[in-house]
Amino acid sequence: MPAPMTRLRDEHDNVEKLLKILESQSTGATGGRPDYGLMEDIAEYFLTYPDAVHHPCEDMVYVKLAERRPDQAREIGDLVTEHGRIADATRSLANTLRLIDQDGAVTHHEFHAVVQGFVAAQRAHMQKEEVVFFPAAEQTLTAEDWNAINIQFEVHTDPIFGHNLEERFVTLRNRIFSWNDDSSPC
Ligand SMILES: [Fe+2]
Ligand SMILES: [Fe+2]
Repeated sequence: MPAPMTRLRDEHDNVEKLLKILESQSTGATGGRPDYGLMEDIAEYFLTYPDAVHHPCEDMVYVKLAERRPDQAREIGDLVTEHGRIADATRSLANTLRLIDQDGAVTHHEFHAVVQGFVAAQRAHMQKEEVVFFPAAEQTLTAEDWNAINIQFEVHTDPIFGHNLEERFVTLRNRIFSWNDDSSPC
C-alpha cells in the first residue's frame, strides 16, 4: 500500500478513538458532568491536525484522481468542499465548548446535538473515503503520484499520535492511552 494511504487509514483509526471519547462524554456514559476541557482539547486537535494536514493530503490525492479519472472523482463528489464543511463543523464544536467554558447560554440539548452531529458527520465522511475514495485512488494513482504526495505529507507530524507529542496535548494523549477498546471510555 502506498505510504500516504497507510498513514491516512491509520489516522482514521486515531480519529475514531477521539470520536468515541466525545461520544461517551456527551451521552453521559462516563457518569457525572462532561469533561469540557478534554473535549476542547479534542476540538483543538481536530483543528490542528485532521483539518489542517489530513484533509489537505486527501485533497492532493483527490485532485490527482480527478486529473486521471474525472469519472471516478465525479462519483465521489466534491471532496475538497466536503472537507471545508467538516472544518466548519469543527469550528462550531470548538465555539460551543468555548461558550460553555465561559458560562454562555448553551442548553444540554444544543451541546448534545452539536457533538452528535460532529461525530456522525466525521464517521460518514471516513466511511465514504474508505469504501469509495481510497480504493479508487489506490487503483488509479501511479507510484510517481504517491511519491510526490508523500514528500509533502511526511513533513507534517501528528501532535498526538506522531513522534513529537506537543505539550498542549499531553493531557489528552494520556487520557487516550489510559484506556483501550476493551475498557471503559474516559
Ligand atoms: Fe477526508
Ligand atoms: Fe480521511
